[in-house]
Amino acid sequence: MKHQTLLSGAAVLGSASASPAYHPSVQDGIAFAASGLVERALPANAPHGYVPQTNPCPSNTPSIRNATDLSSQEKDWLEVRRNATVQPMRDLLGRMNITGLDTNRYIDDNQNNASALPNIGIAFSGGGYRAMLNGAGHVQAWDSRTENSTNSGQLGGLLQSSTYIAGLSGGSWLVGSLYTNNFSSVSDILSYSGDGSSLWQFENSIFEGPDSGSIQILDSVDYYSSIRDSVENKQDAGFDTTLTDYWGRALSYQLINATGGGPEYTFSSIARQQWFQDGEAPLPLIVADGRAPGELLIASNTTVYTFNPWEMGSHDPTVFGFAPLQYVGTNFSAGSPIDNDRCVTGFDSASFVMGTSSSLFNQGLLLVNNSETSGAFQDALQSVLESALSAVGEADNDIADWVNPFYHYNNDTNPNAESRQLTLVDGGEDLQNIPLNPLIQPERAIDVIFAIDSSADTNETWPTADSGSGWPNGASLEATYRRSLNPIQNDTAFPSIPSVTTFANLGLNSRPTFFGCDSSNFTNASNIPPLIVYLPNAPYVYNSNVSTFDPAYNVTERDAIVLNGYYSATQANGTLGDNSWPTCVGCAILSRSLDRTGTEVPEVCSQCFQEYCWDGTIAQGPLSDYDPTYKVPDEEVSVTGGAGRLGAYGAVVVGLVVGIVNLI
Ligand SMILES: *[C@@H]1O[C@H](CO)[C@@H](O)[C@H](O)[C@H]1NC(C)=O
Ligand SMILES: *[C@@H]1O[C@H](CO)[C@@H](O)[C@H](O)[C@H]1NC(C)=O
Ligand SMILES: *[C@@H]1O[C@H](CO)[C@@H](O)[C@H](O)[C@H]1NC(C)=O
Ligand SMILES: *[C@@H]1O[C@H](CO)[C@@H](O)[C@H](O)[C@H]1NC(C)=O
Ligand SMILES: *[C@@H]1O[C@H](CO)[C@@H](O)[C@H](O)[C@H]1NC(C)=O
Ligand SMILES: *[C@@H]1O[C@H](CO)[C@@H](O)[C@H](O)[C@H]1NC(C)=O
Ligand SMILES: *[C@@H]1O[C@H](CO)[C@@H](O)[C@H](O)[C@H]1NC(C)=O
Ligand SMILES: *[C@@H]1O[C@H](CO)[C@@H](O)[C@H](O)[C@H]1NC(C)=O
Ligand SMILES: *[C@@H]1O[C@H](CO)[C@@H](O)[C@H](O)[C@H]1NC(C)=O
Ligand SMILES: *[C@@H]1O[C@H](CO)[C@@H](O)[C@H](O)[C@H]1NC(C)=O
Ligand SMILES: *[C@@H]1O[C@H](CO)[C@@H](O)[C@H](O)[C@H]1NC(C)=O
Ligand SMILES: *[C@@H]1O[C@H](CO)[C@@H](O)[C@H](O)[C@H]1NC(C)=O
Repeated sequence: MKHQTLLSGAAVLGSASASPAYHPSVQDGIAFAASGLVERALPANAPHGYVPQTNPCPSNTPSIRNATDLSSQEKDWLEVRRNATVQPMRDLLGRMNITGLDTNRYIDDNQNNASALPNIGIAFSGGGYRAMLNGAGHVQAWDSRTENSTNSGQLGGLLQSSTYIAGLSGGSWLVGSLYTNNFSSVSDILSYSGDGSSLWQFENSIFEGPDSGSIQILDSVDYYSSIRDSVENKQDAGFDTTLTDYWGRALSYQLINATGGGPEYTFSSIARQQWFQDGEAPLPLIVADGRAPGELLIASNTTVYTFNPWEMGSHDPTVFGFAPLQYVGTNFSAGSPIDNDRCVTGFDSASFVMGTSSSLFNQGLLLVNNSETSGAFQDALQSVLESALSAVGEADNDIADWVNPFYHYNNDTNPNAESRQLTLVDGGEDLQNIPLNPLIQPERAIDVIFAIDSSADTNETWPTADSGSGWPNGASLEATYRRSLNPIQNDTAFPSIPSVTTFANLGLNSRPTFFGCDSSNFTNASNIPPLIVYLPNAPYVYNSNVSTFDPAYNVTERDAIVLNGYYSATQANGTLGDNSWPTCVGCAILSRSLDRTGTEVPEVCSQCFQEYCWDGTIAQGPLSDYDPTYKVPDEEVSVTGGAGRLGAYGAVVVGLVVGIVNLI
């Protein structure tokens, strides 16, 4: 079985351990000549599949650095990327009709000083496939490669103008999938179906696996056994595995367009892609939370971890350090490898990174008995899953087991300094369901964050009886705001955010709202947080409040959620609202930059800020009802019986996880 070897690397593992010849080229990110792979390949761990490799450390010994500043790689890359955003931003602002400001001249006057120009971040919340697809609609609307997206009323080019793009849980599937697929456009991915790919084909749930004959897999038995083999081989190579490994591997069949879901694709190899090095795409950031077994997470003191293509670690004053992602898996102590002959690569599988950020969902794998899946899945995985489970205990089955790079690092503040393991969980478990933490770090100096919230906060009793379920209510922003008032904030500022009651009563949960518009309202003038453009999931043309745990979507339903997201991003091509939405997006982008350069705010922007900025009003009275109807009823997309359904499988999972989290 030739492809079995490719999938799991089982045979290869044996030969690799038998002949531990060191290949410096692998360490340096250049694939084996013999494998025929080109330099800068995403499948950096080929031909070893999912199995991490141990080799002598490179001469430039990997080490842990403190989080005082950005990495040198990020600083170097930013010079390239910030320059690459200038022309797209000039084009975008030029189309936004910002009367009273010659945006071309503004850009031209400041283009030699990138730090004067707007610095844009985008954040995609968790919320399963709902979050991934709603987010995808926004990406599509903001991508100048999308057909007609640079017409009047459209926002194509915002993606090309952005510096950072962060994802968490379901949002990490979106970000991770785009970056492991060569930064393909959403339109291309959606139009790509039926020819054997299983990329974004969600009609078969993850528990069934892709259709036989796809490029991913030959038949379903191979699907189950290749997942099992790849995880077992990692375990046999001496690395602890958990349910999250199975989960991440299964996810990748839908998210990575390569045989077997690309088990050999590493997240760090994104940094070796030419298009990435040329600054053609924003920096992808994936968020997860630190959680020791048995611990309950709360926003105010959870350590938030971020993955980027160069590093993983935390800006929080607890861990306050970053490890080189390519070498995570290595035993570090007090910042250095314990044994210079034993550096690990290939641990940072892109599947594992996405699986870690979304680990809350992996419990679904335990339900194979109850689901519609075939017995083959059970046979193939049941015993392994049980042993994975018994290793951590049922209450901790959402954990991803990482080798702790921060062992004996920052002993005084790092709650995990004494542990060889670093246990990470779903980034939304601390209730900060939008990945804002890496975007509000002062050294990144971001001016504006487009925060897409696909959380499912409302239910049939909140805000009122008989309200609509599965819509966001601002709780996620509030959690980030509250955290910014606690010691763990360590210089990260955040705009004031009102309570969820005020969100509901003022309708901030159902339309775009800007927070922190007036920078003079911040007491510390040297640390002004970004302006937040909050974009809550709402029904424009489709009821996109599908259940977080709905595991399967046909193409019609998938595309309807994406289209709804497109309408959210563009406010129905700029047709909603009093003032033109594209103009107001331009004003939000420019706001901090205009302050910085002492440029007068144009009158149209003042009008926009009146319309879209939260003005500080608190409305704590009795809760208003929330059961939204289509904002663009004329264009309603009909997917018969498609909205808000919750299959038997979903109901079981919801029952299981409801005690852990109810906001994601
Ligand atoms: C541009 O905005 C002005 C108001 O500031 C409006 O009168 C005009 O119609 C807009 N032009 C276009 C092309 O939308
Ligand atoms: C760049 O712009 C910033 C903000 O406007 C300003 O403080 C700084 O002095 C400028 N630097 C240069 C080299 O012009
Ligand atoms: C783009 O615009 C053209 C001309 O209006 C139209 O024919 C075409 O269908 C549009 N494409 C999309 C994807 O909306
Ligand atoms: C990635 O995109 C570039 C162009 O942007 C193309 O030349 C290359 O073939 C693509 N690679 C893959 C693996 O699709
Ligand atoms: C997926 O991979 C196939 C085979 O390599 C390729 O032809 C196709 O263009 C890829 N699809 C996308 C969306 O990158
Ligand atoms: C976090 O806060 C909770 C509740 O206040 C407390 O029980 C727990 O010990 C704290 N954890 C850390 C790491 O400080
Ligand atoms: C942030 O935390 C680090 C590590 O604890 C500390 O060295 C630094 O002084 C803190 N910064 C601020 C502004 O408090
Ligand atoms: C790391 O240390 C553990 C013991 O804590 C050991 O079992 C494991 O083999 C070591 N890993 C490597 C790659 O040396
Ligand atoms: C951290 O603590 C361990 C033992 O608890 C100790 O061996 C190590 O030297 C300490 N590291 C530093 C940098 O102090
Ligand atoms: C919005 O634009 C899209 C793409 O050009 C088009 O298909 C759609 O009909 C437009 N809808 C409205 C409400 O203008
Ligand atoms: C201005 O700052 C005060 C004090 O932090 C805060 O209570 C208020 O909500 C802020 N106003 C706005 C509009 O953000
Ligand atoms: C897609 O799914 C919805 C309900 O989930 C169903 O009503 C619709 O008929 C399906 N469409 C196709 C083409 O299968």
